[in-house]
Amino acid sequence: PPVRYEAENATYSAGSTVDSDHTGYSGTGFVNTANEVGAYVSFGVSATGGGTADLTLRYSNGTTSDRPMDISVDGIVVAAAKSFPPNGSWDSWADVTVGVPLAAGTHTVRATATTANGAPNLDHLEVREP
Ligand code: GCU
Ligand code: CA
Repeated sequence: PPVRYEAENATYSAGSTVDSDHTGYSGTGFVNTANEVGAYVSFGVSATGGGTADLTLRYSNGTTSDRPMDISVDGIVVAAAKSFPPNGSWDSWADVTVGVPLAAGTHTVRATATTANGAPNLDHLEVREP
């Protein structure tokens, strides 16, 4: 099964808040970043290694504009300006998955907003290894 990392337990850029004023999140809330380029959430994850892991971010974007983010692992961008499109409501959530080889050990997975719209609201990251 995938291992889940809650955004509210991760680290995030200054100006972010952990909120719970929209429904449907896991854990105790979600991270609402500032609406600015460079806003991020950074997860420490551990991997057993040996193949391509699926990194799935659960997010909400209740606007009508994309909120693309660079996805990086240990500082290397593995998916540039990955699309996090509108999903209808701040009270619903959607998943975006990136596949990346992960060696055994601990890694830093960061999602960084590439536009002035900032990040979508972020609920959690799941890491699924083969
Ligand atoms: C609204 C919404 C927030 C969201 C913000 C945004 O204020 O309630 O949860 O983070 O829009 O545009 O980023
Ligand atoms: Ca926000």
